[in-house]
Amino acid sequence: MSWIDQRPDDAMDGAFTAVGPESVRTVEAGPFREAMSRLGAAVHVITTAGPAGKAGATATAVCSVTDAPPVLLMCLNRRSQTNPAVSENGVFCINTLGASEAEIADLFAGRTGVTGSDRFSTGEWTTLATASPVLVSAVVAFDCRIVEVRAVGSHNVFFGAVEAVRLGPQGPALVYHERAYKKV
Ligand SMILES: Cc1cc2nc3c(=O)[nH]c(=O)nc-3n(C[C@H](O)[C@H](O)[C@H](O)COP(=O)(O)O)c2cc1C
Repeated sequence: MSWIDQRPDDAMDGAFTAVGPESVRTVEAGPFREAMSRLGAAVHVITTAGPAGKAGATATAVCSVTDAPPVLLMCLNRRSQTNPAVSENGVFCINTLGASEAEIADLFAGRTGVTGSDRFSTGEWTTLATASPVLVSAVVAFDCRIVEVRAVGSHNVFFGAVEAVRLGPQGPALVYHERAYKKV
């Protein structure tokens, strides 16, 4: 079946204005999620701290944008309890998990029922430049100050200027692929 066969009646075609001359025709969310499950991605815990308090969520939607100056982006669902905290604090840290840290990934994905700052009672934490929690065992941590935010569909895209980096223990990283944690 081609993607065009899978278009639903409720595709959000009115949600975007195309850059080019043709109108936008998106695939259905279900087939899109199925397709994305085949795209393996590193697993991160996004943390923040500041006037809005400490919060954190598991995310794979993280990407380098430019190294001149160093900027990366991460995408958070606006329904996540971490989203308003990140917006208000204006800072976040991307903690890239090691292969043995699936439990922390589940904890920060809300799969164990632990919420808010209680999530930080697991793991050893420090800080770098922004006061966002830095997971000592993470293979790498990128401490960022937000320079731009775009709302796209259900998510906010946060662009963060990287103010500090911490290289943690070397070794295999945790990757999410076909809805399972894998070691790479
Ligand atoms: C492997 C994995 C990757 C995820 N990636 C993202 C992501 O990139 N962006 C996002 O908004 N939520 C992502 N989530 C879902 C959030 O972790 C989860 O919805 C959120 O932490 C739970 O909401 P809460 O923090 O409000 O409890 C991911 C979850 C898992 C298990």
